[in-house]
Amino acid sequence: RRFYRVESGQDLLAYMDKGESANLENRWCFETAWEAANKVGGIYTVIRSKAFVSTEEMGEHYCLLGPYKEACARTEVEELEFPTNSPFAVAVRNLRAQGYKLHTGTWLVDGNPQIILFDIGSGAWRLDQFRHELWETCHLGIPHLDVEANDAVILGYMVAEFIAEFRKAAEEYSDIKPRVVAHFHEWQAGVGLIALRTRHVEVATVFTTHATLLGRYLCAGSTDFYNNLGNFNVDEEAGKRQIYHRYCMERAATHLSHVFTTVSEVTGLEAEHLLKRKPDYITPNGLNVKKFSALHEFQNLHAVAKEKINEFTRGHFYGHYDFDLDKTLYFFIAGRYEFGNKGADVFIESLARLNHYLKAANSDTTVVAFLIFPAKTNNFNVESLRGAAVTKSLRDTINQIQHNLGKRLYEICLQGKVPGSNDLLLKEDTVKLKRCIYALQRDGLPPVTTHNVIDDWNDPVLNSIRRCQMFNTVNDRVKVVFHPEFLSSTNPLFGLDYEEFVRGCHLGVFPSYYEPWGYTPAECTVMGIPSITTNLSGFGCFMQEHVADPMSYGIYIVDRRYISLESTIRQLAQYMFDFSRLNRRQRIIQRNRTERLSDLLDWRNLGIYYRQARMRALKSVYPEMEEEGEGMGGRFNYPRPISEPPSPSSSRMTTPAPSEHGSDDEDEVDEEKELQELAHGGN
Ligand code: UDP
Ligand code: G6P
Ligand code: GLC
Repeated sequence: RRFYRVESGQDLLAYMDKGESANLENRWCFETAWEAANKVGGIYTVIRSKAFVSTEEMGEHYCLLGPYKEACARTEVEELEFPTNSPFAVAVRNLRAQGYKLHTGTWLVDGNPQIILFDIGSGAWRLDQFRHELWETCHLGIPHLDVEANDAVILGYMVAEFIAEFRKAAEEYSDIKPRVVAHFHEWQAGVGLIALRTRHVEVATVFTTHATLLGRYLCAGSTDFYNNLGNFNVDEEAGKRQIYHRYCMERAATHLSHVFTTVSEVTGLEAEHLLKRKPDYITPNGLNVKKFSALHEFQNLHAVAKEKINEFTRGHFYGHYDFDLDKTLYFFIAGRYEFGNKGADVFIESLARLNHYLKAANSDTTVVAFLIFPAKTNNFNVESLRGAAVTKSLRDTINQIQHNLGKRLYEICLQGKVPGSNDLLLKEDTVKLKRCIYALQRDGLPPVTTHNVIDDWNDPVLNSIRRCQMFNTVNDRVKVVFHPEFLSSTNPLFGLDYEEFVRGCHLGVFPSYYEPWGYTPAECTVMGIPSITTNLSGFGCFMQEHVADPMSYGIYIVDRRYISLESTIRQLAQYMFDFSRLNRRQRIIQRNRTERLSDLLDWRNLGIYYRQARMRALKSVYPEMEEEGEGMGGRFNYPRPISEPPSPSSSRMTTPAPSEHGSDDEDEVDEEKELQELAHGGN
């Protein structure tokens, strides 16, 4: 890398032979996003996971731009200065000379991309000037009170000034004219694009939207969105929701860009109607897929992580822990707390049905359903902490007794005596155990939430749980746990980060209504965990398009488009019920199949759409450049599996049957053999 530490002035890393063609062509790429090194939602995942292929392709000619958000940047970014003789350094210097604060360095994620983070506060003194310019050039008026929109304006102009300075500097460094492509994500970054275009800076621009503002708002209300896409009076709808200026920022960036892209076909259609431009490219979201050297490593990781969730369950349900963890399945939903858009309403309703189905079938399976949505809380509730404490205390006591017992037996045996029953459990041990058992009794039911939710009586998840009477009684076969905070490894109840938690679960359930892409089911897939998505999510439609029978690969797609809400709820409940009837061997096979879809979601394959979009933009500014060829096309082939899949469509019975839990605990199941057995009528 061409960076050196400020304090030593010494080159840190040798230049790597990446981005050779970018170097030869004097081609540069800047990618700007509000979520660069700033974790909010899925856009952070896009930028972060794509960094590896971006640097593979462009090397030092690739650079990320975003706002400086201390909490995330301090842990994720290593601050370094550019070498003095690079166009980056010249541009950074010129901006700093104007009083702007810029943090430069590398983002400590796979690919270690160069990153420049702009301190919004340091540009605030020019806000009025920027707003005036936006008004003069685009008739776009930003109200004072909308802090987020004003921050977007400041970032936008700072970024545009930086790119213009960079371009000028790059001209000095080569005989070849610099070809710069500036890629902007979502409306918050869009002002940068608007500024570059209205100031006539010679750079190629790409705008990618990950949703439309209006679409998200309309769906969050009770609008029949998809059947009325063409009928909305967009200006009026945006005005009614007080987002007219934001909508204009989004629409201006969309129309001023040389190339406009969005993350899925479904959002493309939405953009066409609401933003009035059809995307030039669909740029589906990928992941940085890591392959394990051992094929079944991800299965082992599932078992290890599941044991940690088991430990949570023991603590949470203490006093009512009368179910068998070996016959317990973990389902979950997670994401930003957009109750209706993320389909939490449908999930809870379907869980109530599932509860009923399992009871009616006398099933011995228990489903623990986790809902992970960050809400405002006053920390963990006492009951949850107490549960974790009393189970820990029992475990510690037993460990101690076990240790002492071992020592005792050792001594007795060394003396040549045979230990008697009196030597096993001492009276004091029994007393200690009784004390623990006493502490494990509780009056109330296990709580449905792990935290004290601030607006408890208005919280939509809690209200739905109340309405459906999912109170974790002994008779319930479906238990619910609402965890109103994102997971992290320092969490005192789980001690798991989100990825590990997903690995430990059996099924992710994401019945979204508004979901331009939806990383959560995609992340499940690359970890080999089956998931439920919908035909309104970008991911769900993408899988439908590329996989012949997604369900047999553990991708269940609920219909939220063509059937009634009631039918959707029933379909989801049925999918979950069918899943609960798979035995362990079938689950293992299904996980293997799910994991096989990873390649389809790998940036190594999906990155090409980004490259094509950028090359198209470059060509429109620098016509002498060549465009890239076709996309990944038909390179992937996921046919319907030959023999009977362990999937609901074919294993469904007319009357619910009790589950059969396979006794096979083997780490590796020979799927081909297994499939043949299934084909010959075996279970
Ligand atoms: N996520 C997380 N912790 C959680 C739940 C979710 O970090 O407890 C992440 C998840 O890994 C995913 C992102 O949040 O990458 C959500 O992205 P998605 O595209 O599903 O939805 P968005 O929030 O962008 O609408
Ligand atoms: C993985 C492990 C097995 C374990 C299984 C449990 O496949 O390698 O050792 O038995 O997970 O699967 P389950 O679906 O019951 O959690
Ligand atoms: C948005 C969408 C989400 C998508 C993400 C990344 O936040 O809500 O569906 O996965 O962006 O593109």
